[in-house]
Amino acid sequence: MRRIGLFFGPLKGSVNRVADMIAEKIGTDRVEMVHVKTASAEDFDRFDTIIFGISTVGKETWDASISKTDWGIFLPEVSRGNFAGKKVAIFGLGNHVTYASSFVDFMGLLADELMNTDAEIVGQVPVDGYEFEESAAIYDGKFIGLPLDEDFEPELTPERVDNWLEILRKEMNL
Ligand SMILES: Cc1cc2nc3c(=O)[nH]c(=O)nc-3n(C[C@H](O)[C@H](O)[C@H](O)COP(=O)(O)O)c2cc1C
Repeated sequence: MRRIGLFFGPLKGSVNRVADMIAEKIGTDRVEMVHVKTASAEDFDRFDTIIFGISTVGKETWDASISKTDWGIFLPEVSRGNFAGKKVAIFGLGNHVTYASSFVDFMGLLADELMNTDAEIVGQVPVDGYEFEESAAIYDGKFIGLPLDEDFEPELTPERVDNWLEILRKEMNL
C-alpha cells in the first residue's frame, strides 16, 4: 500500500501538471495519484497522509459552476470521509491577476468542508510574496495551503513547491 494519496482534479490542466511535479519530488513510488472524478469517500481509508490538488474556476457563478466540475461533484465525498488520525494538505491553482479578488478561493471552500471532519490540516503558507486583493483561502492570516499561479508566475512554482514540501516534511509524515 502506498502511504500518500494525492487526490486531484481536473485532469490534464495545471492542477494535473503540478500534481505530477509534486509526486516526482516526493517520489512516485510513495504517492498514489487519485483523480477525484472517479474516487469516493472510501478511498481516503487507504491513506494516513493525503494531499489535495484543486483549482478555482468560475467564482462569479460559484454554485452553478463548481457543481459541474470534478471537485464540485467530489466535495460531498470529502464531507462523508473518515479523516480520524489523518493529516491533510492542500495546494490550489489560481490566477492572481485576472482574479485578484477571489484568488484561490476554492482552496478555502475545500478547507471549510475538511474543518467539519476530523482531518488535521497542515501546510499553511504565509501571504508574503503573493500579490492579490482578497482570498477565501486565508485562515488566521495565512493561506490554508499552497497557492500557485501557473497562468502568470509559473517560474515561481518549483521553488514554492520545494518550500512547501519542506514544511510538509516537518508537519506531516511525508
Ligand atoms: C472561468 C474561469 C474562472 C476562474 N476563476 C478564478 C478565480 O476566481 N480565482 C482564481 O484564483 N483563479 C481563477 N481562475 C484561474 C484558474 O484557477 C487557473 O487558470 C488554474 O491554473 C486552472 O487550473 P486547471 O486547468 O487545472 O483547472 C479561473 C479560470 C477560469 C477559466
